[in-house]
Amino acid sequence: MKQEDLHAIWAQTRPSDFLVLSLTNSNPFFTPTMVDSGTVVLPDVTIGEQAIVHDQSSVMTSSSTSLSSGAFSAECRVKMDYFEAVKSRHSVRAFQKKPVEEEKIRRIIEAINLAPSAGDLQAYEVIVVKDPMLKDKLAKAALGQGYVSEAPVCFVFVAYPERSSKKYGRRGSELYCIQDASIVTTYAMLAATALGLSSTWVGAFDEEAAARAVGATKGKRPVAILPIGYAAESPESTPRRPVSDIAFLDTSGVPYPFSFTDKSFERPTRNLKP
Ligand SMILES: Cc1cc2nc3c(=O)[nH]c(=O)nc-3n(C[C@H](O)[C@H](O)[C@H](O)COP(=O)(O)O)c2cc1C
Repeated sequence: MKQEDLHAIWAQTRPSDFLVLSLTNSNPFFTPTMVDSGTVVLPDVTIGEQAIVHDQSSVMTSSSTSLSSGAFSAECRVKMDYFEAVKSRHSVRAFQKKPVEEEKIRRIIEAINLAPSAGDLQAYEVIVVKDPMLKDKLAKAALGQGYVSEAPVCFVFVAYPERSSKKYGRRGSELYCIQDASIVTTYAMLAATALGLSSTWVGAFDEEAAARAVGATKGKRPVAILPIGYAAESPESTPRRPVSDIAFLDTSGVPYPFSFTDKSFERPTRNLKP
């Protein structure tokens, strides 16, 4: 890893991220505390430990100078708090050409694999599509939504009814496998956000055409296409229904006594019927 790489990772961090540094070859020049112009950025970081990023406006200076002076190899990872990931996720429909690193694709798959599923059957498949021709087919299947093929990688989430129906009959084939595929899509979206990537859940597509594109046979049903990449746009926050339309106490229609504990989660509200 080079000094620039470390800077690139640092540039992705946001306040309250966790930065994990682990050196595989300890370097006498590496000073574990990174300090910038009086701001303690990573106080008392020791190798392999986590530190909270306090101030994104800070940049590494003194320690990064030392970093370039010796041979070392390091792995840096940025970890984002769950609520930060939820808050900062927006549907992004324009992507940079920059590829998604293989390690990040694997991390998303790792997260998917830990999602809950009905009876722990994992009645879904995830197909990671990188082939430009197949991405074009997916974009066409998605009624011409061009950003699907522009994303460097698309995850296609497919429900696998047969896996669930063996144990749960119709409820498995009509509901659980769809829920299994949906929750892994959600896990993937949030994992992508936590890795500094963006995505959009695409649900509008011709199911047969999408299934054909990814070779989903045996009654497997594509549930979502998730184009993933580095954002080339910063969309405005989307509005939400008033919370009184969605959260109830004990009985549907009886509003939950709710107020925001964190104002930064508040969105402009919008009234929709029903
Ligand atoms: C089930 C589902 C299907 C969706 N299908 C599409 C789609 O086909 N095309 C699209 O551009 N966005 C699609 N979206 C994204 C929504 O438009 C988006 O989540 C919503 O407008 C809220 O914006 P946000 O994601 O930025 O918070 C879909 C989202 C979900 C959950």
